[in-house]
Amino acid sequence: MLGSTAIYCLALIPLLPSGSLAVYDHYRLPSSLEPQHYDLRILTHLNATDRRFEGAVRIDLRVLQSTRNITLHARNLRIDKSRISLTGGSTARGERHCPSDSDIEIELNEVYDYYTLHLCRELQLGQSYQLTMHFESSLNATESGYYNSSYTGAATKEKHYMAVTQFSPTFARQAFPCFDEPTWKATVNVTLGYHKSYTGLSNMPIHKCHKHESLPDYIWCEHEQLLRTSTYLVAYAVHDLPNAATVQSDTKNRVIFRNWLQPMALQQGNASIEMGPKVLGYFEDLFRLDFPLRKIDQFAAPTHRFKAMENWGLVTFRESNFVHIEGVEQEEAKVLKAKTLAHEYAHQWFGNSVTMKWWNDLWLKEGPATYFAYLALDALRPDLGRGERFIGKDLEHFFDRDSARSVRAISREVQDPAQILGQFTKYVYEKGALIMRMLHKLLGEEAFFLAIRSYLSKHSLGTVEQADLWQSMQEAAVQQKVLSSDFNLGRAMDTWTLQGGYPLVTAVRDYETGWVSLNQTRFYLEKGLRQVTATDHCWWVPLSFVLQSHPDFEQTRPQSWLECPATTTQALQLPNGPARNEWFILNVQVSAIYRVNYDEHNWRMIISSLQNDPNFGGIHVYNRVQLMDDLMALGAVKLLSYDWAFDLFEYLHREEELLPWERSITLLNRIGMLLSGRQAKELKAYMAKLLSLLYRRLPKLGAITSRSVTGRDMSLMRLTYTQACRYRVDDCIDQAKQLVMRHLNTLELPVDIYEVANCIAIEQGGEAEFQQLLQLFRNTTNVAQQEVWASALGCSRNISLLAEFLDYTLQSETKETTDCYLLAVETALTREHLVVEAANHVLSHAKRLNEKFKKRQLTRLLLTLAGNLHRPEDSDRLREQLKDLKQFEEPLQKALDVVKVNQQWQGDCSVDFSQALGKHI
Ligand SMILES: *[C@@H]1O[C@H](CO)[C@@H](O)[C@H](O)[C@H]1NC(C)=O
Ligand SMILES: *[C@@H]1O[C@H](CO)[C@@H](O)[C@H](O)[C@H]1NC(C)=O
Ligand SMILES: *[C@@H]1O[C@H](CO)[C@@H](O)[C@H](O)[C@H]1NC(C)=O
Ligand SMILES: *[C@@H]1O[C@H](CO)[C@@H](O)[C@H](O)[C@H]1NC(C)=O
Ligand SMILES: *[C@@H]1O[C@H](CO)[C@@H](O)[C@H](O)[C@H]1NC(C)=O
Ligand SMILES: *[C@@H]1O[C@H](CO)[C@@H](O)[C@H](O)[C@H]1NC(C)=O
Ligand SMILES: *[C@@H]1O[C@H](CO)[C@@H](O)[C@H](O)[C@H]1NC(C)=O
Ligand SMILES: [Zn+2]
Repeated sequence: MLGSTAIYCLALIPLLPSGSLAVYDHYRLPSSLEPQHYDLRILTHLNATDRRFEGAVRIDLRVLQSTRNITLHARNLRIDKSRISLTGGSTARGERHCPSDSDIEIELNEVYDYYTLHLCRELQLGQSYQLTMHFESSLNATESGYYNSSYTGAATKEKHYMAVTQFSPTFARQAFPCFDEPTWKATVNVTLGYHKSYTGLSNMPIHKCHKHESLPDYIWCEHEQLLRTSTYLVAYAVHDLPNAATVQSDTKNRVIFRNWLQPMALQQGNASIEMGPKVLGYFEDLFRLDFPLRKIDQFAAPTHRFKAMENWGLVTFRESNFVHIEGVEQEEAKVLKAKTLAHEYAHQWFGNSVTMKWWNDLWLKEGPATYFAYLALDALRPDLGRGERFIGKDLEHFFDRDSARSVRAISREVQDPAQILGQFTKYVYEKGALIMRMLHKLLGEEAFFLAIRSYLSKHSLGTVEQADLWQSMQEAAVQQKVLSSDFNLGRAMDTWTLQGGYPLVTAVRDYETGWVSLNQTRFYLEKGLRQVTATDHCWWVPLSFVLQSHPDFEQTRPQSWLECPATTTQALQLPNGPARNEWFILNVQVSAIYRVNYDEHNWRMIISSLQNDPNFGGIHVYNRVQLMDDLMALGAVKLLSYDWAFDLFEYLHREEELLPWERSITLLNRIGMLLSGRQAKELKAYMAKLLSLLYRRLPKLGAITSRSVTGRDMSLMRLTYTQACRYRVDDCIDQAKQLVMRHLNTLELPVDIYEVANCIAIEQGGEAEFQQLLQLFRNTTNVAQQEVWASALGCSRNISLLAEFLDYTLQSETKETTDCYLLAVETALTREHLVVEAANHVLSHAKRLNEKFKKRQLTRLLLTLAGNLHRPEDSDRLREQLKDLKQFEEPLQKALDVVKVNQQWQGDCSVDFSQALGKHI
C-alpha cells in the first residue's frame, strides 16, 4: 500500500471540547481547498468467499483559503483513523506541534456523506498539502460505487466474479474518500492490485506492473495519469472477460478500442463493436476537437445500474444494451442500443471534457448527448431514418407531459444524493435534447456549430453553467449576423430551461392589413389552472413562419420573437402583403416547443391544403403531426370544437409517413380509453375505417416469410398490423392466426411481426395456446425472448389464465422474470378485454409491487392504468389502496392528476367529441 513518509501534522485533535464543533451542513463542499491530484491504489479480493477491496488514496491539496478543517466525501468506507496523515506546507513558521497521542477528531454528516477532519493547525493559504487515507469496504451489491457482478460459464456452470465501478452521480465516495462534486476536477493516477488470473482496466492504459510485495500471485499495475477529471468519471474494473475484438479507429489519435464481453456473448453478431470507433470519429469531425485519450475499453457488465456510463476511456454498458441478439430482439431494440452508444460517445465532449459545475445543470450534458446521438445515428445509419423518429417521440412526450401541473424546470436546485439521482430522468434528457434542437434551428447550421465548437474548445477540461452555453451561442449568432447584438439570447433561453410547461400562442390575422396579432398563455390541460393570468408564466417565443405561396420549411430561423414579460398582444407584419387565401404557419418544423392556435379562416386554409394540395402544400411532416396534436389539445381545453381535428384527420387518406399515423392513432386511442357504450363502438368503427387505408397498402401479414424487411418499413408494419388487428380490420386476425400456425416456435420471422401475431393468437385462442406460450416462457432464460412472450401473454382475454401468469412473475426470485409482470399487465391495460381486471390485479398487489419495482417503473404503470380512469371513486380507490406505499407516492400524485383531467374531459368534452366523431363514420 502507499507508504507515507515525512508526516507533517502528526495527529488530528479537537480544537474545541468534543461535541461543540459546528457540523458542516451546506450541501456543497467548502471552497477552501482544491484537490489537484489523486493517487489511488486499490487492492481487489475477488473469489468465491472473499469479495472486498482495500485502498489508499493520497490527495494533493492546494489551499484557497486558510482553514483548520478538511471536509470531503466518504460513504460506507471503513477508514483507518490511525493511518490518516497530512504532509506538506511550509515548515518554516514554527507552529505549535500537535500532541501525538490525541484522538483524531472526525465528524460525519450523513445527509451529505461528509467526512470532516479537524486539524491541530491551520492550512496556509497558497500552500500545498498531501492528505493520505487508508480504507476498506466490501464490494457493493447494488451496482453503485465499486460493485460486484458475475456471470456463469456456459460449459462449466462455474460462477465468475468481477468488480467494476459505477461512480455517477455520487458513488465515487463509496469507493474512495474524495471531493465528489463535478466541479472539483483533478488528475488521477490509478494503481490496481489483483490476482494475476484477472485483467485490470482503468480509464488509462497500463504504464507498468510488478509483483505484490506480500500476496503470492498478486500483482500491482499502475495506469497512466488521467487528465483533469471530475470524480464521477473515474473508472476501473477487475475481471476475467475475454476481449472480443481490438479495433483501431481512424480518429486523429488512432484510438484503440477493445471490447470485453462474456464468452457466451461472443457468438452474437455485434454491431456495437464496429459502431464505437465510427461514432467517435464522427463526433471528432463534427466538434473539430480531438478525443484526447489513446484507448477506449468498451466493457459489457452483466449487471449495471444504468444502461451505460460514459467514463473516460472505459465506457461501461449493461450487457443487454451492448449485445444484440439477432432473431430474438426487435429492430427497435437494436436501434436503441446504437442510440445509447452514440449518446455515451457524445458525452466524451459534453460532460467529460466540458462538465456542469453542479447537478442542477445536468441537462447541459444529457441534452446535447441525447441530441447529438440522433445526429450521429442519422449520419452513420441513414437507412434507419431514426433521428426524425426520436425527435418525433420526444416532441410527443413533451407536449403531453408538460401540459400537466406538476412539471418542473429541467434546470433546478438539487442538494442531497437522492435529489441528484432524481435528476436523471427521461424528462431531463428529452427536453434537454429539444432545447439543443431549438438552438440548432434558431441559429441555423453555421452559427450553431460555430457556437458548439467554440464552447467546447473554450471550456475544454473545464466546468460550466448554462449561461456559458448561452454566451457561446450568442457570440456566434451575432458574429454570423443571425441575431442582432442587442438581443439577449440567455434571457430568452432561460425562460425555457428555468420553468416547466410551454405556451399556447394564439395568432389572429387581419386579412385586410396583413398583420397578425399574437399572444401567449401557459397551456394546461387541467381546467382549474387555465384561469391564471397571462403574466404568471411567459416565454421568449421564437416566431418562425411560412406562407403558402412560399412554403420554405427549411428556413427555421425566427423572423421575430414574442417577448417576456408578456405585456399585451403583439403584432407581426407578414411580408409581401400575403393573399387572403393563403395560409400562414407558425413554428416551422416545430423548432421551438409551443402550440399554436389560429383564427378559423387560417385553420380552414391549412386543412384544405393538407387534404387537396400535391405534397400537402409543402407542409413539413413535423408540422403535419403537430397540427393534429394541437387541434386535439385545443378540443380538450374547449378552445375549438373537435370538428376541426376530425376534419384534419381526413387528410390521412393521403399520408404515407409513419410519424403522422403514429401520432393520430396514439391520440385517438388515448381518448378511446375513456369511452364506453355507443361512443366506444363508434370510435372503433372510425378507427377501423382509418386503419383499413393503411392496412391495404401493406403486404398480407400471413404472407410475410423473410427477415428482409428493413428498419424503416418495419416500424410502419408493426404499427399497422398491431392496430389493424386490434380494430378487426379486414382479414388481419385470420392472417395473424395463419402466420402463427405456420411458424410457431421458429425464429425465421422478423421478431416484431412474430410478436404482433402471437398477441392475436393468444387473444383469439384458448387455454391450450396460452399454456403453450407460457411453457415457452418458463423454459427460456433468454431475457429478450421472455419479454416478447410476456407482452403476448398480456393480450389474453381469460382473466384466470392471465392472473396465473401475473402471479407467477411476481413470485419469481429472478428480477428479469418479475419485470415481465409490467409488460404483461401494461399490455392488458391498453387493450379492451381485461382492463378492469388488470387494474384490480395491480391494486390488490400494490404492496408487493411497492417492494419489487422502482419508482420509474411504477410511474409508467400507474399512468397507463390511470389513462382508463375518470370517475371520482376511481381516485378514491387509488388513494385508498396505495396509501403509505413509499415507491407509489409520486406516481400516485401524477395518476390522480390524470384522473382529474379525464374526469373533466368526460364532463366537458365527450359530447362534443362524439358529435364530431358521428359526422365522420
Ligand atoms: C479467497 O481469497 C482469500 C485471500 O484474499 C484466501 O484467504 C481464500 O483462501 C480464497 N478462497 C478461495 C476459495 O480461493
Ligand atoms: C472549517 O474552517 C472554516 C475556516 O477556517 C470555518 O469557517 C468553519 O466553520 C470550519 N468548519 C467546521 C465544521 O469546523
Ligand atoms: C451499496 O450501496 C448502497 C447505495 O449507496 C448502500 O445503501 C449499501 O449499503 C452499499 N453496500 C452494500 C454492501 O451493498
Ligand atoms: C453481489 O454480491 C452479493 C452479496 O455477496 C450477492 O448476493 C449478489 O448476487 C452479487 N451480485 C452478482 C451480480 O453476482
Ligand atoms: C502519475 O503517473 C505518471 C505516469 O503516467 C507519472 O509520471 C507521475 O509521476 C505520477 N504522478 C504522481 C503524483 O505519482
Ligand atoms: C389572446 O388572443 C385571443 C384572440 O385574440 C384572445 O381570445 C385571448 O383572450 C387572448 N389571450 C390573452 C391572454 O390575452
Ligand atoms: C425446453 O428447452 C429445452 C432445451 O432448451 C428443449 O429441449 C425443450 O424441448 C424445451 N421444452 C419446450 C416445452 O419447449
Ligand atoms: Zn447521458
